[in-house]
Amino acid sequence: MSGGYFITGTDTGVGKTVVGLGLMRALKDRGRRVAAMKPVASGCRERDGILYNDDALRLQAEGSVGLPYSTVNPYAFAPPIAPHLAAAEVGVWISIPRIVEEFRGVAAQVETVIVEGVGGWRVPLDERETVADLAAALGLPVILVVAVRLGCLNHALLTVEGIHHSGVALAGWVANRLEPACTRAEADIDTLRRRIPAPLLGILPRLARPDPAAGAAHLHPERLAAWVTSVFGCRPARGGATSGNS
Ligand SMILES: Nc1ncnc2c1ncn2[C@@H]1O[C@H](COP(=O)(O)OP(=O)(O)O)[C@@H](O)[C@H]1O
Ligand SMILES: [Mg+2]
Repeated sequence: MSGGYFITGTDTGVGKTVVGLGLMRALKDRGRRVAAMKPVASGCRERDGILYNDDALRLQAEGSVGLPYSTVNPYAFAPPIAPHLAAAEVGVWISIPRIVEEFRGVAAQVETVIVEGVGGWRVPLDERETVADLAAALGLPVILVVAVRLGCLNHALLTVEGIHHSGVALAGWVANRLEPACTRAEADIDTLRRRIPAPLLGILPRLARPDPAAGAAHLHPERLAAWVTSVFGCRPARGGATSGNS
């Protein structure tokens, strides 16, 4: 299966949604038709008997095509807790095959689908499976969002190891400087550049308004490796670098 990217992060609250929205806007600015999914979300609010997640609503709104909410976010849970616990509390089983089916329907309508994970790479979805199994079943290359702060080197490198262990391609990574007070942030980013075998797609500063346009201004999808762009749908910009960590 082809046609998108799976966004994971070093943790929850690290900027996966901000990066996902920014990437959608950056791809649209380059003439691509995009859509997004947030297949599993906890911390949802009920309106007229339906649970909605803020991330999913924003991703839905940024798409080039109108998709039903239940397609963007097939699994929505109210409590802001680990998804497998939230699912168990309401007697729901998170079906990866169902998510893959929904993804296929979306991928048929656009060129690139951005799929946001939930939490980090090894977040359980049920007794056995994790976010890693979902990404592998979708067959999408991964974009890793690293929140640049003390402890991020360990989290980032462990996540890269986990991604490789799962047999999934790492298409690129993004450094999110959402904590401006973090000291030695440049040195941390440089350390990761040397050790992560995938292009750095952009460095996000602390944004006054972290909306899609602001994210897009700092993201460079043309840095995605050439093999990824040919298979998974993002043409390199004319004359732009297709690899490398600059
Ligand atoms: N670069 C940034 N500048 C300012 N705020 C940010 C930045 N990145 C993320 N945020 C904010 O941090 C919070 C977590 O980001 P989010 O994208 O929702 O993370 P995740 O999807 O990984 O849980 C949100 O309130 C978001 O607006
Ligand atoms: Mg999110």
